[in-house]
Amino acid sequence: MIQFELNGEAVTSDSPDDTPLLWVLRDELKLKGTKFGCGIAMCGACTVHLNGTATRSCVTPLSAVENMSITTIEGNDSALGEALQKAWVEEQVPQCGYCQSGQIMQATDLLSRNPNPSDEDINAAMNGNLCRCMAYVRIKKAIKSAANGGGA
Ligand code: FES
Ligand code: FES
Repeated sequence: MIQFELNGEAVTSDSPDDTPLLWVLRDELKLKGTKFGCGIAMCGACTVHLNGTATRSCVTPLSAVENMSITTIEGNDSALGEALQKAWVEEQVPQCGYCQSGQIMQATDLLSRNPNPSDEDINAAMNGNLCRCMAYVRIKKAIKSAANGGGA
């Protein structure tokens, strides 16, 4: 039995220790906002925060999160998370939407460490989050807008 905090609530899982966190979140705990893309840490669709750091849940075994704090898109409701989601809507970022929760979780991590990122900073931080719909220009615009308090 592994214990951890999920979006501010204490939870336990009795899945096998080597179960990828992604499947614990989606299948056991029924939080479907975190997506499966590649399963090998190459696309970013499964990004969550582990003690505040963007982490690929598809390659994170359940055993690695014992007593840690996990935030998923469903709980990404800090002022920063809210600002990013507002900017995402205003800039009409998503197309199919599949990659977007991972994009927002990665962007939240970026702005929490670097509140005013340059284009290069954004490219470096978001490099591992792929979007098959090519929403990259709008993603960057929304990150800058959120960094500037909206309206950038
Ligand atoms: S599903 Fe985890 S990085 Fe692609
Ligand atoms: S919006 Fe479709 S994959 Fe990114």
